[in-house]
Amino acid sequence: MADTATGGSGTSLEQQLDQMLEIERFEPSPAFKRDALLSDPAIYEQAAADPQAWWSRQAESLDWFERWETVLDDSDPPFYKWFTGGKLNVSHNCLDRHVEAGRGDRVAYHWHGEEGEVRDVTYADLLRDVQRFANALKDLGVRQGDVVGIYLPMIPEVVVAMLACARIGAPHNVVFGGFSAESVKERMEFSEAKVLVTVDGARRKGKTAPIKATVDEHMGDLETLKTIVVVRHAGIADVPMADGRDVWYDEVCAAAAPDCPAEPLDAEHPLFILYTSGSTASPKGILHTTGGYLTGVAATHRYVFDLKPESDVYWCAADVGWITGHSYIVYGPLANGATSVMWEGAPDYPHRGIWWEVVEKTRATILYAAPTAIRTFIKWGHELPERHDLSSLRLLGSVGEPINPKAWLWYHQVIGGGRCPIVDTWWQTETGAIMITPLPGITETKPGSATTPFPGIRAEVVSEADGRPVESGQGLLVLTQPWPSMLRTLYREPERFVETYFSRLGKETYVVGDAARTDRDGYFWIIGRIDDVVNVSGHRLSTAEVESAIVAHEKVAEAAVIGQSDEQTGQAIAAFVTLQGDIEGSDELVAEIGGVVAERIGKFARPKRIIWADDLPKTRSGKIMRRLLRDIAEGRALGDVTTLRDPSVMAALESQIQEAQ
Ligand code: PRX
Repeated sequence: MADTATGGSGTSLEQQLDQMLEIERFEPSPAFKRDALLSDPAIYEQAAADPQAWWSRQAESLDWFERWETVLDDSDPPFYKWFTGGKLNVSHNCLDRHVEAGRGDRVAYHWHGEEGEVRDVTYADLLRDVQRFANALKDLGVRQGDVVGIYLPMIPEVVVAMLACARIGAPHNVVFGGFSAESVKERMEFSEAKVLVTVDGARRKGKTAPIKATVDEHMGDLETLKTIVVVRHAGIADVPMADGRDVWYDEVCAAAAPDCPAEPLDAEHPLFILYTSGSTASPKGILHTTGGYLTGVAATHRYVFDLKPESDVYWCAADVGWITGHSYIVYGPLANGATSVMWEGAPDYPHRGIWWEVVEKTRATILYAAPTAIRTFIKWGHELPERHDLSSLRLLGSVGEPINPKAWLWYHQVIGGGRCPIVDTWWQTETGAIMITPLPGITETKPGSATTPFPGIRAEVVSEADGRPVESGQGLLVLTQPWPSMLRTLYREPERFVETYFSRLGKETYVVGDAARTDRDGYFWIIGRIDDVVNVSGHRLSTAEVESAIVAHEKVAEAAVIGQSDEQTGQAIAAFVTLQGDIEGSDELVAEIGGVVAERIGKFARPKRIIWADDLPKTRSGKIMRRLLRDIAEGRALGDVTTLRDPSVMAALESQIQEAQ
């Protein structure tokens, strides 16, 4: 247990939170309320009175080939099943039913490329491409239940690949484009993926990275991987293609039959695996299934964003490789027949006002972004967004990390022109869909609070000691009743699933891994992770994962990684590194260590700061005390050091830090 929940350095945080609880509140405007899909607060009581009836009503908004027999099978907690006996297909729900209803010409994505290209992809276009690629996958020998890896940048083909998998019942395993090829290999290996869909190269800020060539360097010896499908995107001339293993996406699609009926799948058929970081170095394969997941993402996407599919232009500025992209770029919006913006690039290329240019050009009405992006825009100045017409925006969203009230207010004023409600949405890869959030036509918001659980969700803040609700102050955030889009297990690691989430407070209480508190109005204030997970710019990383990358450097003896508060990125990685023998720390070594981390995990995991340490503070049982390392890195007075095996280590570390400054 880290110090956030136990109060090690809690006083200033407590004071800060108390102040926050007192500040401004924002009511939805009468105009917003009048037009909102949900504006009657009675919805909360109705859903709470009979959650299963509420969720079945949500499921009814999807197309089912066969209706379910049982809404919730809770006979073997925590292995819950939803809508059992029901049959449906996610890609049918995202595409066919819209096209069949005469909405084929509606734009699904306004894709904007880095170099100013614009590509509008309609629902009919997607359905055509998905059917071809689904058949191509079948031609390549992919069968129901086979895992397909996807390692693609933000291009429409990533959506096609995901939906093609969903169409034939092949669970996909998408890896964020910022992860290194070595991470891709690891994830392909763990999931025994049969096919990997990747790209010739990815464009980033005017440069092109040779993705396929890099993937090749790592993938060679994976026996389970039979085929690599390569999408042409960056115009790379000499892409290495292995005979008998590698094929071009456009060629296999052209050779495939055009019609591929959507497979009726069990509600509990696996839809995808998405690896995320936990307390140990090995990533966890979060498994989501078909009926419950789609029900959860469709309902939350509709109501949290108050979506009017005929008129809204919705932009979720995440990457498809994270859960936010899966649920709120792909599945939620497509299930609801929304028109989305898809942006290929970075927020500062070709210039720092590009987001606002895209909002203006597309007349986006809803923007869903991460606080780290907002803080970056604050740094760049309000003049940039002010140069653009942002009057189309009517709703703003935030996700991925706590949003500090200052950033909330700036977002509200500068981007939202003071008129747009903000939905601060708390959720996780594991929860599949948004769990704690305002409903924009109902909830009075308080900057910095994710407010209250979505209808049908039950959350509590409980004491770590006895699992009882905490009246005031902070505790463990838990979800106390199952919900349709919850993870079903950790892929091939059911014991780890139970151990990680359902061992602390029993098999019916999902322990989230965050500390939180509630205020007198019952609003939730998320404080942050209580495990060894670090949130850098909304990217979730495990300290153990980064440590094991650092110690792979031959000159490193030991490393301890912590998340240090950072104004820009929320948390930043700081690494305390002990070198072998008499080796001295140097700038070259800093660069080399950063390089190893980039190679093994991805550039985004590179430590921002490396602190050379002769020794690390350990308890008598040899456990590294990260709490003390955080104190020292953030320049605070040290907490209790009496449990240390050798308290003098801290004094030595302090003087080492001072020397370095
Ligand atoms: O600590 C919480 C933080 O992000 C974690 C989940 O990370 P991940 O699975 O990568 O999913 C991120 C996108 C949903 C949570 O345990 N987090 C997410 N949203 C918020 C948040 N912290 C505070 N406020 C939020 N709105």
